[in-house]
Amino acid sequence: MLHGLRQLATPLADGGMRVVADAWVAFEEGRVAAVGSGTPPAGGERIDADGMVAIPGFVDSHTHAVFGRSRADELERRVRGESYASIAASGGGILASVADLRRRSEDELVELARPRLLAMLASGTTTAEVKSGYGLSLDDELKTLRAIERLRSLVSLELVPTFLGAHAVPPEFLADRAGYVRLLAREMLPAVADQGLARFCDVFCDRGAFTLEEAETVLSAARDLGLGLKVHADEFENLGATEMAVRLGAASADHLLRVGESGIRALAGSRTVATLLPGTALFLGLPYAPARRLLEAGATLALATDFNPGSCPCASMATVWTLASCGMGVPLDDALRALTLGGARALGLQDEVGCVAPGRRADLSLFDVADYREIPYFFGENRCAGVVRGGSVVWSRSSPQS
Ligand code: NIG
Ligand code: FE
Repeated sequence: MLHGLRQLATPLADGGMRVVADAWVAFEEGRVAAVGSGTPPAGGERIDADGMVAIPGFVDSHTHAVFGRSRADELERRVRGESYASIAASGGGILASVADLRRRSEDELVELARPRLLAMLASGTTTAEVKSGYGLSLDDELKTLRAIERLRSLVSLELVPTFLGAHAVPPEFLADRAGYVRLLAREMLPAVADQGLARFCDVFCDRGAFTLEEAETVLSAARDLGLGLKVHADEFENLGATEMAVRLGAASADHLLRVGESGIRALAGSRTVATLLPGTALFLGLPYAPARRLLEAGATLALATDFNPGSCPCASMATVWTLASCGMGVPLDDALRALTLGGARALGLQDEVGCVAPGRRADLSLFDVADYREIPYFFGENRCAGVVRGGSVVWSRSSPQS
């Protein structure tokens, strides 16, 4: 039982919102049993929320949290006018992180990623997807996915692993792209699936990454192996990746900075979630994705961080909320839905997490604010005061090591 909440705000599965003043939430076996207002029923283990405001734990459905060093050097270069693409072409970008990760041990990757994931938890995220994609060889991708597997038992947030072997063509295959696509489809994916190391397969389908045809080869192989699909689509150039994602039944199409009318229509008429990553647009100085048009067309939105060393080193979902609302014009309640239930849907967890309602997992984040709308309002500040997972406090500002 969590009691003493100044307010509970949650999207509901039927499309509505529930805002309860002076709220309590009763738990049973790690799940929500009831939500009420006023004097809570007696009995059971009690957690005093001390006047905090609760929302469902954020579901960050797109991160690249396992990498080696930061690439802060590239920030200076971009600010001085070099583009993300030209930095990548001159030895920086994704391939710089690949060279770095290949030199590191699995233990080191675990130690580097652990505080990053803890920072996510401490800013109110209770579920995070984590992609591989800086290894790009069988051994280095498996090493990354094993690190994610180990992190699952070391941190208190739920991790969902995604195989992103098709993040870039590795240097040793630059003259033989088809050879790398074959390696992905015939060796890497079967090994990943066989070892149960990923729930999804993602492909970066864009200029400078993989073509539509290459992406479809990889995604079809992944689907045949029983993996869910995701696509980095229409980030820099519109190659038709969003329409392909929908056609293949992908769980989500992500980025969408350059999605056009036909991509919007395809998403709106499908179960594929439109995952928007406004931190990346901000950090790369690119125009935001057309969030309002997607919403008005009826697409299901998710909002996520894209936390990664190159294009978005921000792991704060509250900051993403501010960017979504202030930068893309997403109404606050629609943004909260996209940050929680939308992310859950993009991970196939829509019946488990993402809203506070009877039967759902009892994953909530508590904020030191007077109203839930102050979470995106006081931007740049982490107001998260506590995190509850499965009905137990797993992080609190007063004892941060817990
Ligand atoms: O989602 N777009 C491709 N991949 C990442 C960037 C990764 C990097 O720069 O290291 C993204 O933005
Ligand atoms: Fe990404």
